[in-house]
Amino acid sequence: MRVVVAGATGLIGGALLPLLKARGHHVVALVRDEAKAVDADEVVVADALDPVAVRIALRAARPDVVVHQLTALRQMSADALEATARLRTEGTANLIVSAREAGAGKLVVQGISFATAPLGAPVLDEDAPLYLDAPDPTWARTVQAVAEMERLVLGTPDIAGTILRYGTLFGAQTQYDPDGPFGARVGRGKMPIPESATGVTSFVHVQDAALAALAAVDSEVTGVFNIADDEPAEGSTWLPEYARMLGAPPPRVLPGDIAEKVLGWFTHHQLTAMRGARTDRARAELGWKPTVSWRRGLASG
Ligand SMILES: NC(=O)c1ccc[n+]([C@@H]2O[C@H](COP(=O)([O-])OP(=O)(O)OC[C@H]3O[C@@H](n4cnc5c(N)ncnc54)[C@H](OP(=O)(O)O)[C@@H]3O)[C@@H](O)[C@H]2O)c1
Repeated sequence: MRVVVAGATGLIGGALLPLLKARGHHVVALVRDEAKAVDADEVVVADALDPVAVRIALRAARPDVVVHQLTALRQMSADALEATARLRTEGTANLIVSAREAGAGKLVVQGISFATAPLGAPVLDEDAPLYLDAPDPTWARTVQAVAEMERLVLGTPDIAGTILRYGTLFGAQTQYDPDGPFGARVGRGKMPIPESATGVTSFVHVQDAALAALAAVDSEVTGVFNIADDEPAEGSTWLPEYARMLGAPPPRVLPGDIAEKVLGWFTHHQLTAMRGARTDRARAELGWKPTVSWRRGLASG
């Protein structure tokens, strides 16, 4: 099949290109900077937020399948989250219109598994409600954009849509790379932990994320799938263990009343309230399963 990968210069997109080629697909990379090298059969150029450029690029690419791995999350900040929200709404809408016009029959899109509301069981499946009314405006906007993206992808006639809701990414060059922003902070002993760190994180290695996208491209099955490792873990488990793996001292314990102020809303939410992700559906229907857990890979990049 002719497969267009939008976000081909990214961590997941870049890992996906050789997997698709090895499966015999004709891979077209959609990039916004032609100077960046990619391992693809063809390259088309467009900024995903420019509908005319996307239309011209996809018309030239003639895809059977379009894979959307666009984010602006290399640097985690409110601006990066806002840019990512635009990629998930406007960028997705641009891809859908142009993919339909170019004759594509399928769309595989990157979502997140940790947008669920912190309600109910510690580990949730794909039917759990999203945290659309999160008290933090930046996170509420992020979750609303994820919901809009899913609605667009699953509601488009003539195109089969698959959403891969990835857990928290780890691996080389992610934020959890020992040299990445979060990893370096833990390694320096500068990431304290709230006294009640019962929030659950489901991690996923970049390579497993790419393998899930490969499975989704090749599968007849569509819908929403959580993609994460086998070991959802409370903050009280994974953060001290991550510090130990990095040779850092155990995280300093923060009293509950100051923890959010010190950590910021999102990290506090992750460590105290977030829910993990069940992956039974991806295993049963996509035939995908994780190959590495955070316990083996978190400290090795
Ligand atoms: N995915 C998540 O949910 C999530 C959550 C938290 C943190 N992170 C962090 O994000 C990184 C994960 O990798 P990823 O593969 O999701 O993201 P990534 O490596 O940042 O790749 C994003 C891709 O989107 C492209 N892109 C961004 N804006 C674009 C635009 N306007 N038009 C066309 N292309 C555009 C980028 O192109 P350029 O190369 O031109 O920029 C790049 O190819 C890690 O550092 C991870 O720790 C991800």
